[in-house]
Amino acid sequence: MTKRVAILISGGGSNMVALVDSMRGDHPARAVLVVSNDPDAGGLAKAQKLGIPTASVDHKPFGKDRAAFEAALQDTLEAAAPDIICLAGFMRILTPDFTAKWDGRMLNIHPSLLPKYKGLHTHARALEAGDTEHGCSVHEVTAALDGGPILGQARLSVSPDDTPDTLAARLLPLEHGLYPAVLRRFAGGDRARVDLQG
Ligand code: GAR
Repeated sequence: MTKRVAILISGGGSNMVALVDSMRGDHPARAVLVVSNDPDAGGLAKAQKLGIPTASVDHKPFGKDRAAFEAALQDTLEAAAPDIICLAGFMRILTPDFTAKWDGRMLNIHPSLLPKYKGLHTHARALEAGDTEHGCSVHEVTAALDGGPILGQARLSVSPDDTPDTLAARLLPLEHGLYPAVLRRFAGGDRARVDLQG
């Protein structure tokens, strides 16, 4: 049966667009909802243009009450009955209670070759470390931040004149290739790793 996919975003949503565009034809999944924690996220308009229902659950009114924010997010998600959640540039840390609800059904894309550089500023940290290789990872989401089982990685060579901005810009197209490739396998019940080279 076709899997239902909800995509969580916080910003421009280019990974979301790549995922939505990939779920066509014989793909085992379809996008059923795009949710943002920022009502002004540029990705919401892109999703609407693609004909995908959207919702926003603004985290700001909840202040430090992560549990209340996540309860509202959970209600919004459950209304769309997704089988799989894809975090695509979703910039809120999720509590173990929330991740447990979607255990084995939630994916994330992270702009580093995990387990390196969990958290923020991944491109700057790779450059500071003098890495000659950088990349992105798609992994299952667990309670450990950016720490769940890795389902795929895409790599590129760092050039001597790269900056954090050029690295981010060069990596993004690889993200757009990797995430749909992993989702297609995952939705078909296959957790075998995907490895891409830029
Ligand atoms: C992407 O580079 C993604 O890997 C990163 O945010 C960007 C979102 O871009 N995610 C994280 O840093 C998660 N910790 P997009 O909104 O254009 O897809």
